[in-house]
Order: sequence, then structure tokens, then C-alpha cells
Amino acid sequence: MTGTLRLILSLAAGSVACTGATASPDVYLTWQRDPTTTMTVCWQDAAPGPGAVEWRPAGADQWSKAAASAPRLLPGTDRIAAHAELTGLQPDTDYEFRCGEEDAIRRFRTLPATLDRPLTFVEGGDPQDGPAMEQMLRLAASRDPAFVVIGGDLTFDDGLSEHAGRVERFFRALGRDLVASDGRQIPVVVCVGNHDVNRDRQWIIDNEALPRDAESRRAVAPYFVASWPFPGERGYGVLDAGDYLSLVVLDTNHLNAVDGPQLDWLRATLAARKHIPHLFPVYHVPAYPGVRDLRDEMSTLIRGAWTPLFEQAGVRLAFEHHEHAFKATHPLRGGKQSADGTVYLGGGAMGVELRDPRDPAREPHLAKTAKSHHLHEVVLESQRRTVRTIDLDGRDIHRLQQTVRDSPDDP
Ligand SMILES: [Fe+2]
Repeated sequence: MTGTLRLILSLAAGSVACTGATASPDVYLTWQRDPTTTMTVCWQDAAPGPGAVEWRPAGADQWSKAAASAPRLLPGTDRIAAHAELTGLQPDTDYEFRCGEEDAIRRFRTLPATLDRPLTFVEGGDPQDGPAMEQMLRLAASRDPAFVVIGGDLTFDDGLSEHAGRVERFFRALGRDLVASDGRQIPVVVCVGNHDVNRDRQWIIDNEALPRDAESRRAVAPYFVASWPFPGERGYGVLDAGDYLSLVVLDTNHLNAVDGPQLDWLRATLAARKHIPHLFPVYHVPAYPGVRDLRDEMSTLIRGAWTPLFEQAGVRLAFEHHEHAFKATHPLRGGKQSADGTVYLGGGAMGVELRDPRDPAREPHLAKTAKSHHLHEVVLESQRRTVRTIDLDGRDIHRLQQTVRDSPDDP
């Protein structure tokens, strides 16, 4: 029986229930809403997969149950992706959960409501199916972060069913390797990259040719949209943790135009968060490249549309990817070095083959580049943030420290 047929039959029979679970689905975590009081448990499994998630505060006796989303078949496989959102959780609290009664009991922790002690997260991009992908996920987990951000080109599937094996390998690694030293599973926040969508739509700057609705976004990015309820079918969004952290997750013309409705949303979203001390845009194609030419068409479009809004909102740090080499810009305002400007950091090299970066001595916007796989370990405190960029062996490539202003209007 094909996976598709099995899924249709199970759905028709209403039999997508806990008992349908295999012993070990590939389980990973993300958020769709407030990371201090919710968690979204995601899984990929042989169809039909578990129909609910059971959860309880760590050490409690009674399980609560959250129903699963409608499972989506992953093209070219007999596997499905589904998720369940747990709500009404307490901040900074450990919970146990399992995807079906036969699943192992797993753990997660919600984010704290306030930044009373340092909070660490790890950021990187472009794991794709490169040789370093699993090692970098284990390196990320070894830092015991509260969560991990991955900035696109997750599996290099290009939306093509012949690349379904890459999808399976990546999500197996997420479930297996993103586990902290205390056994806690580490949530992941992602944005979309060009290799997460169908190949013939990767480099469309013609906005008329981009997908127009959720259905067409599902069609051009079948694995990404099925696997990630956030940013999900819309392709962009924001996550707010208390009043100390906002992750603004953007789409660099893969499912949505840089300068279409997303731009109006970005303007309003940033304007409402000027007071957030740690306000970080995350997106795939860089505004300030470290490998490609500064005049690159997409980068020029992003600099024209987005970076003035970053500056108006007091954004001091933006995470960029896609280029397969490390770069850090100087703090920039209007493209010029400025002490209170925005640093554009990273180049997306978690797993991919590396490229040769440009020489900072010849590029006024660049402070440092390195042909190196890398991750950023970001430590947030109430008055400052520290970013340590490390290579595959955990060695320092770069360090950045920024103080936090109360508001971009402060002198
Ligand atoms: Fe890319």
C-alpha cells in the first residue's frame, strides 16, 4: 500500500489516533506564539503518525492531551509531518511530553518571562545536506541553548520529491541531536531559504511570478511548509518573548516579495517593537554580502526596502545567511560605518561546502570574513548582548559585544 493511500484510508476512517504512532517518530520543537507560555511539538513519522501529544509538568502524575494538526504527506515518501501546540504553560518551567503512548517521554523548557539572568541561544544557517550538518547540530546542542535559530536552506530539498531523503536525514538529526546536556529537547526557529522552495522559483524577483496564496506556497515549498508551522504557510512572522526579545523572521523573495505586503507588515512590526532591547531580524539572503558583490540584485533590493526600517527601529544586529562563509559587517547606518549602526552577521555555513569570502580590506562594509563553518552563541542580558562565533571545532572566529539602549530615540 502506498503512503498516500494509507494516509487517505486512515483519514477517511478517522483512525489518526495515538495508537497509530510508530515507536520513534522524529520529534522536534518550535513555537508559533509566545515562547514563554506555549510550545509546538512537531513530528515526522510513517503515516498516519500520532494523533495527539500528551504533556505534563515535569514530575506530575496526570497527562494532558493536545490534538494533532491534520497530517501532511511528505512528497516522495510514506511519511507525514504534523504538530500540536501546547498552550497555557508556565514560563521557565520544565515539561514532559510524548507523541503517542508508545513514544519515549521527552522534555522541554519554556522561556523565562523576564531576562533576570543571561539567556543563551545559538544561531546559524544553511545546514543543507552537507558533511558537517550533524556535527554542527551536536555542537549547537553542546552549548545548552534555550533554543536554536536556523536561517534557511534547511535540507536543500528544492521542493523536489527526489530529494526527500535529505529531508528525512535532517529531521532525524534534529530529533536525535538537538538535545541539551540535561536531556531537554531544544526548540528550533527557522526562516525560509531559496533551496527550501521549488528550483524554478528560487530567484524570481518579478513579484508577479511569486506564489499568491497559502495553497500555492504549500505547492512550491511542500517540505518546508509541512514541516514548520512557523513561519508556516505565510512564510514570515514574529515571535515575542516577554518584553526582552523579538525574532522577526523574514522571507527574502522565496515565498513572498521583499517589497510586497511583507514590507508593510515589517514596517508596522518593527515600529511596535522599538522598545524591545533584543530585536533581531532573521532572513536568508544578505543585505550586505560577504561573498557576492554588494551590487547583487537581491541584496540591493533588501537594502532599499528593509535596512532603513531596521535603523529606524534601533535594530543593532541582523542575522544573515546563504553565502556559505562567515562575515561580520561594521556597524552600519545608510551603508556607512557608524558606532550606533546595525551589524549584519553570519553567512550560513552550518553544513554546506564553503565558498571563498571577500577581503574586508577591499570592502568598506566588511569587518571580518572567514572561510569557515560556523555558529553564533548569543548571550542576552538586560543591558548587553555578547555574540561568540565558533567554528566546527568550537574555536573562536569572532566576538561581538553590544550594549542595550532603552530606546532608539535615546541620545
Ligand atoms: Fe541559499
